[in-house]
Amino acid sequence: MATKLPTTDIRIGTELIRRRKGGIPLVCLTAYTYPVARLLDPHVDLLLVGDSVAMVLHGHETTLGASLEMMIAHGQAVMRGSARACVVVDMPAGSYEDSAAQAVASARRIVGETGCQAVKLEGGVDMAGQIAAIVAAGIPVMGHIGLLPQSVEKDGGYKIKGRTDETVAALMADARAVEKAGAFSVVIEGTIEAVAADITRRIAIPTIGIGASGDCDGQILVIDDMVGLTVDRVPKFVKEYADLRRVIANAAERYAAEVRDRTFPGPAHVFSDSKASSGTDGGDET
Ligand code: KIV
Repeated sequence: MATKLPTTDIRIGTELIRRRKGGIPLVCLTAYTYPVARLLDPHVDLLLVGDSVAMVLHGHETTLGASLEMMIAHGQAVMRGSARACVVVDMPAGSYEDSAAQAVASARRIVGETGCQAVKLEGGVDMAGQIAAIVAAGIPVMGHIGLLPQSVEKDGGYKIKGRTDETVAALMADARAVEKAGAFSVVIEGTIEAVAADITRRIAIPTIGIGASGDCDGQILVIDDMVGLTVDRVPKFVKEYADLRRVIANAAERYAAEVRDRTFPGPAHVFSDSKASSGTDGGDET
């Protein structure tokens, strides 16, 4: 059983993230579970409980499978597993788009039930009212512009943004709207490199790139993609730093062989007669 993390007052806050604009790049990853949060916490500035959890852990086809309850449960696990990183929880599709009042109520539930530092939502000019209302309610917001996974059905696929003058102008307007609404940072996803770099130069809040530009103020990847655990589609912009698919398949293959030929469990994995040492039943721990 893992020991509990000590409570700490050194968690990175959203104001510290905001002040990192133009400085050492912000290191961000998604996390959805307690053990992974514990492993990542010492190495990152920010952990995002992304609605990608619906695809990555729950096997849904798109992020539209995420619910408020799902995000809160994973947010609680990541908060339990981290002590240092700024934790941001995604607002799932359907929890904020209808009105500013709906957005504030959902954001309050997420922060109230998880204790996370901020929420993230997708959209620019069209969601500025929701961002401003959540910020006015005292909850920091991270924006998300460019390729918006929650709009993938409407867009007809995962389409890179910023290829035409019209979409470049729309992206710049989105970035400015998110900044003006009071967001402390903004994710730029699936956007032409030069456009993401230009947005980064023109706005005063940190930009966090994913499939965007090395000039962004920080980078984020989905943890399962980054460690080579994704079994379906791995986007082109991902760099796999490990091959956990192979590690897990290899371990499962060896385990199966050893169970079948009875070499597992061996003497080290069973409990021998303990009368001589403790004299009682139920006293030993596993
Ligand atoms: O849900 C998610 O994982 C995200 C990242 C791709 C930024 O929003």
